[in-house]
Amino acid sequence: MVVGNWKMNGSAALLRDFAEAARHGAQACESVLCVPSVLLACAQSLLRGSALRWGAQDCAGHDLRASTGDVSAEMVAAQGTRYVIVGHSERRVRHRESDAEVAEKARRVCAAAMVPIVCIGESAADRDDNLTRNVLRRQLLALSRRVPGLTGVVLAYEPLWAIGSGDTASPGLIEETLEVIDHVLQFDAGASPGQVRLLYGGSVNARNAAAILACPRVDGVLVGGASLDPTEFFTICRAAGHRAAAAHAATVVAP
Ligand code: PGA
Repeated sequence: MVVGNWKMNGSAALLRDFAEAARHGAQACESVLCVPSVLLACAQSLLRGSALRWGAQDCAGHDLRASTGDVSAEMVAAQGTRYVIVGHSERRVRHRESDAEVAEKARRVCAAAMVPIVCIGESAADRDDNLTRNVLRRQLLALSRRVPGLTGVVLAYEPLWAIGSGDTASPGLIEETLEVIDHVLQFDAGASPGQVRLLYGGSVNARNAAAILACPRVDGVLVGGASLDPTEFFTICRAAGHRAAAAHAATVVAP
């Protein structure tokens, strides 16, 4: 799975470029562009029927209709959207979203029959202080309280220090941390082993994607900056497609 996160970037013209590029190369992986909510209708009209899907970057975690500027999960779903990123660190930090709020957003996305892509991750200070496991566990337990077993959730492990910094986590560190996440999921959050898809995000680009996707526990990537360039984005999709094909071939030949 490859998910692009356009953040506060993009335009109808850029979406047209992506729609055009998507027509030329079939994606051998699940590929999604998460666009600003004002572009969802445009994404629906340009990408409908294409293998490239579209998603949102956030939704409200409450029902208060008197809530200027907010968009509910149902409103997002009405744009043909199947995916919503929630709990990105830029929202957790800048908008002070708590673990409980993020979890409630994820619950609402599921209730609207969409897939929440829930971001979790530690800061550089957390990692330096050996708090990575605690932080991830706290975020995951809050999520499991609202979405039992994390059914239907896609998790994106995004260490804050790797986002937009060019400082990608090494495949070894990614694998080691996803193992921690898997352990918490299974033993603390009540998830069945292998049920929750795990993405990595943080300075993923066309050059490092194949190495990251080769990590056994990685099911896909969440891509920020590099998702704004169709050539770069579809190169990452091809790398994911190769990985999926290799994994499929391995299960076919396995006794
Ligand atoms: P980046 O962003 O790929 O530009 O580091 C990733 C993200 O914020 O999801």
